[in-house]
Amino acid sequence: MIRVMNVIGSMGLAVAVRPCCRLFVAHIFTRCPGQYCLRSLPHSRSSAGWVGTAVAQSKGGAPFSARQVSDSVGPLSGTVPGAEKAFERIVVPDHTEAKHLVVESAVPLKEKKAAKVEVKRVEDKEQAEETKGKDVSESKKEAWRLLKNAVVSYCGSPVGTMAANDPFAELLNYDQVFIRDFVPSALAFLLKGETEIVRNFLLHTLQLQSWEKTVDCYSPGQGLMPASFKVRNIPKGNKGEFEEVLDPDFGESAIGRVAPVDSGLWWIILLRAYGKITGDYALQQRIDVQTGIRLILNLCLSDGFDMFPTLLVTDGSCMIDRRMGIHGHPLEIQALFYGALRCSREMIVSSDGSKSLLRAINNRLSALSFHIREYYWADMKKVNEIYRYKTEEYSQDAINKFNIYPEQIPHWLVDWIPEKGGYFIGNLQPAHMDFRFFSLGNLWAISSSLATPWQAEGILDLIEDKWNDLVGTMPLKICYPAIEDEEWQITTGSDPKNTPWSYHNGGSWPTLMWQFTLACIKMGRPELARKAISVAEKRLSKEKWPEYYDAPTGRFIGKQSRLYQTWTVAGFLTSKLLTENPGMASMLTFDEDLELLEGCACSLIKSPRTKCSRNVAKSHVFL
Ligand code: GLC
Repeated sequence: MIRVMNVIGSMGLAVAVRPCCRLFVAHIFTRCPGQYCLRSLPHSRSSAGWVGTAVAQSKGGAPFSARQVSDSVGPLSGTVPGAEKAFERIVVPDHTEAKHLVVESAVPLKEKKAAKVEVKRVEDKEQAEETKGKDVSESKKEAWRLLKNAVVSYCGSPVGTMAANDPFAELLNYDQVFIRDFVPSALAFLLKGETEIVRNFLLHTLQLQSWEKTVDCYSPGQGLMPASFKVRNIPKGNKGEFEEVLDPDFGESAIGRVAPVDSGLWWIILLRAYGKITGDYALQQRIDVQTGIRLILNLCLSDGFDMFPTLLVTDGSCMIDRRMGIHGHPLEIQALFYGALRCSREMIVSSDGSKSLLRAINNRLSALSFHIREYYWADMKKVNEIYRYKTEEYSQDAINKFNIYPEQIPHWLVDWIPEKGGYFIGNLQPAHMDFRFFSLGNLWAISSSLATPWQAEGILDLIEDKWNDLVGTMPLKICYPAIEDEEWQITTGSDPKNTPWSYHNGGSWPTLMWQFTLACIKMGRPELARKAISVAEKRLSKEKWPEYYDAPTGRFIGKQSRLYQTWTVAGFLTSKLLTENPGMASMLTFDEDLELLEGCACSLIKSPRTKCSRNVAKSHVFL
């Protein structure tokens, strides 16, 4: 049970604290916007226990000072049009690098206008369809109703959508706003021209972000974004009144205590999408938002013991938030990481102070794309190469760099790998290749251009070829195939929720449809997405929008599946909106960046003196 207390700190700020020596203040807003001001303190902890005078002090004793943060065109004053005044203020520790920003819009007016016109077109089209009573299918109407019912308000403003609204199932934490779950909701709202909820979400979650690096009591690392948050009512004063507070979960309450590595990456991806679709680039240029991006990147780009450019994470650090044998360098995290780096590179305001960060981003992008394109790719040719690998090679020139024993090629893959097409494997570590196909990572690799155009085509070819296995009667399998028997026992710890072909272990997740749609549209194959959507549309509304489906072809509603799962609803709506307005998809995807290829080619060339060029780059790895 979480205990939340209300304490008035030395700056007169209300704080909520929890046991376990962590002062859990940060994200509490004293009063609702409009009445006074919103403010939040970064995560802080008090060594003296869980009541803190540290309300106004950072860990190192540096005082926090209230700073006003402006929009893009001037410090300390003014409100961003359409924004709540309250967001103009945040509290930051004095020792942060935060500076007031004075920037000019980095985005051409033409592009802003184009985005707005497109959104308007979506709205007009919807309206025209409604008045004609045409094609706004019953399931689409129901989906919008459900999505709106799932909206969570904080101090009178919409801030997100709850994970599920299932009246029959145990609540657990499904009444919370999950960062990753909100992404398809946000896109549906944005594509419909309803932008306020997304803006509020981005700013409120930013204020929940952890600022203070701590080492014990499972406190979150600096820059970590929560997995989810809940709006709680806590008593205020003695008069029986209540006030609303935002209570984040960084994994400390989550089943299995899993760290949400993907949250910050999704937050950055959504921030860019918000700017692209609304044309409101001022939001991403705000100093607090810029600081938020930097904190996430610092966490991801910091040095460790790892030798690879991929992010090293624990099991359950993403959508698959239970033990499923994906610790190490899972594809899903790498694809989101790559996407978030591409987004950040566009959004970070260029200045003397940001030069080294931008350089670090570029270096990592090059190394990461080289590593994934080269070592994670599996197709007939590559599997055949692995089959004939020599092992125990000691040298810089080793072909089998990770010392993969060919015996690792699983039996199912021998027959399954198609002649045409291929995919990125799930994970790569010393002497270990996880050959399972993970949908989210592969699809996001297409959308973010982590995959070469040729590989992206290959992934869609494979999905088309393996339609029955990956789509079947409900798009889309989270991974393929399921792990069974002893392997299941060892890998999941005999997890009864992740039994073969259920939930994360080969279950089908309709929410993944939007990612599939996006990838298909990007690659000029929207008909493939339409085919998947029509498979889903036949069942989703009738079967009450389940969270996931079971069985090898997805025929059964998941054993413990929530009904009225919001990201199922939103994934369907976003897919529909994207297929109706394919032009919008380009706002969410990335094209190949040839400059990054140069960096990659340089990593291949042995002599540091060899000159790198785009042509060299292309001829080396990228077909
Ligand atoms: C489950 C899923 C996770 C999702 C959460 C809320 O834990 O594994 O990805 O975010 O439910 O829907």
